[in-house]
Amino acid sequence: MIEQPVAIVTGGATGIGAACCYALAEKGFYIGLHYRRSVDRAQKVLADIGKGDLFCADLTDPDAVETMVGQIKERLGRVDCLVNNAGHSINADINSMRLEQFDLQRAILRGTWYLTKRVLRLFMLRQGKGRIINISSVVGHTGNAGQIPYTMEKAALDAFSKSLARELAGRDILVNSVAPGFIDTDMTRDLPEEIKAQILSQVPLGRMGRAEEVAEVVAFLATSGSYINGTVIHVNGGLYGG
Ligand SMILES: NC(=O)c1ccc[n+]([C@@H]2O[C@H](COP(=O)([O-])OP(=O)(O)OC[C@H]3O[C@@H](n4cnc5c(N)ncnc54)[C@H](OP(=O)(O)O)[C@@H]3O)[C@@H](O)[C@H]2O)c1
Repeated sequence: MIEQPVAIVTGGATGIGAACCYALAEKGFYIGLHYRRSVDRAQKVLADIGKGDLFCADLTDPDAVETMVGQIKERLGRVDCLVNNAGHSINADINSMRLEQFDLQRAILRGTWYLTKRVLRLFMLRQGKGRIINISSVVGHTGNAGQIPYTMEKAALDAFSKSLARELAGRDILVNSVAPGFIDTDMTRDLPEEIKAQILSQVPLGRMGRAEEVAEVVAFLATSGSYINGTVIHVNGGLYGG
């Protein structure tokens, strides 16, 4: 079993997830980096950090989640912090969105729920403490045209944080969401310039956020904030006040 506290970060190879891996390693966590496709980038993050373990799974597949949780148990033996960061957005308006696309969007939420359920059972409930941090989004609060299933998923993720915090009452396991605004990552990089300008015009700080600015809040929730539970922390440069 690993001696130091272990943080599992889903989607840890890229963007906000990678920044979380760096920030949590800095705080003394041993990193269990989950990825789906970005193996080269996952290896690079761990090489930068100097140690850690890689776990590959498509979170939409419960068997893959089960296999991954078994590997975490065998190789690390503990989980002190789970950052549910992996996500994707399928963008289309309600007229053109197909049922299969809706189901694919929803499947990542189901996978997040299932991974959390298994991590709780195998590790955190036994250890008697833990931190769970869900990366949701400002659009789960404001809504966004062309992203209805994504915004539904992110609003549901915040509801998940609130409900799970209540279910875990008295267990010393804190559950919170971090809701980023408009952050410069792969997810936003290819947006048309006019859409970017339109979003930025609503951000009082007048710029996109950096993944590190989200990760520092995640690291705070993972190590401090002992009376913060069942809530959503917004990191959006003033785009939305909560
Ligand atoms: N960027 C923003 O402005 C913004 C704003 C609000 C919220 N967020 C949220 O922040 C989180 C991170 O996004 P990002 O901006 O850092 O974008 P990103 O670089 O595209 O990261 C998405 C990550 O999710 C993983 N992933 C996607 N589908 C998966 C699946 N089915 N199974 C397992 N892993 C899967 C990807 O892994 P692989 O690459 O290995 O496949 C990737 O590492 C997401 O939940 C996103 O919704 C982002």
